[in-house]
Amino acid sequence: GKVAVLMGGWSAEREISLQSGRAVLAALQARGVDAHGVDVDRARLLHLAEEGFDCAWIALHGTGGEDGIAQAVLEVQGLPYTGSGVLASALAMDKARCKALWAASGIPTPAHRLLRADTDADTLVADIGLPIFVKPATEGSSIGMSRVDAPDQLHAAWQAASRYGESVLAERFVAGGEYTAAVLGDRVLPMLRIESAGPFYDFHAKYEADTTRYHCPCGLAPDEEQRLAALCLDAFRATGARGWGRVDFMLDDDGQPWFLEINTVPGMTSHSLVPMSAAAAGIDFENLVERILALSLE
Ligand code: DAL
Ligand code: MG
Repeated sequence: GKVAVLMGGWSAEREISLQSGRAVLAALQARGVDAHGVDVDRARLLHLAEEGFDCAWIALHGTGGEDGIAQAVLEVQGLPYTGSGVLASALAMDKARCKALWAASGIPTPAHRLLRADTDADTLVADIGLPIFVKPATEGSSIGMSRVDAPDQLHAAWQAASRYGESVLAERFVAGGEYTAAVLGDRVLPMLRIESAGPFYDFHAKYEADTTRYHCPCGLAPDEEQRLAALCLDAFRATGARGWGRVDFMLDDDGQPWFLEINTVPGMTSHSLVPMSAAAAGIDFENLVERILALSLE
C-alpha cells in the first residue's frame, strides 16, 4: 500500500521531526515501499485518506503528532499508523500525568510537583529537595528545561518552561547514570548509557554537540541489564504504549532506577538513540523502519 511518512507538524520539535521523517522516508523508499513524505499541517492531516494513503508512518514529535491528536485523526479516517494509540500517546506526552500513573503502579519515578507562577519556592524545596529540574510537562528534546540549585532560581526556570505550555513540571534531580532503552514490539533492545559533557543532556547535547558519548553496550552486568529491561517494559506498558518507543531513566549510585519519561515517537535522526541501540542488536536503520511499520499492520 501507499505509506504517508508524517513529519514536520507544528510543535517546538518540528525541525527534529523533519530530520526523523526524511531519514524514515529514505529508508522505506530504499526498501521499495511506496512511501511519500507529508509535511503535516492541520488541513492535510484531515484528508490523508482522500489522498489515497493506506497507512501512516508517524515521525512527528511533540504537540499535535506524538500526543494522540494525529493518532485520533487517523483513527477517524480508518488509517493504520505506527506506534502507540490515542490514550498512551497522550499520557506519555504529559510527563506529570505519566509519572502519577507510574507512581500508582509501583514504578519508581523521582518526586515531582506541578509548578505554578505562585508556587512557593521554599515549600517546594522542602517537599522534593534540591537540585530540581524544571521542564514543560508536554515538550520533548529538553526544550525549555533548566536546572535549579537554589530556591531563588525557581521563578526564572518556571518562566523559561511556561513559554511552551501552561503545565510545568518540577522534578527532583537524581544523580547517577543516564540510560535509555528502546522498545521494539515485545523486546527491549540493548540499553544505552549517555554521557554528556554539559551539566545535563540538553537540546545542544542531543542534536548539536559532538561531546556527548553514547555507550552501547552500556556497561551493566547482563543480569542487571535484563532486570532493568523488564522494568522498562513495565513502565512502557503501564501507559498502554505499543509498537515501539523509548524509555528514559536514571540509575543512582545504589543501582536503583528512576524512570523519567517515555517517548512514543523517539527521534530517528542520524544522532538518535533508538537507531544506535537497534544497530547494536544487528538491526540496521532500514530494517528498523520496516519492522516498525510491520508491527503497526499486525
Ligand atoms: N523527543 C525526541 C525526538 C526524542 O525523544 O528522541
Ligand atoms: Mg521526550
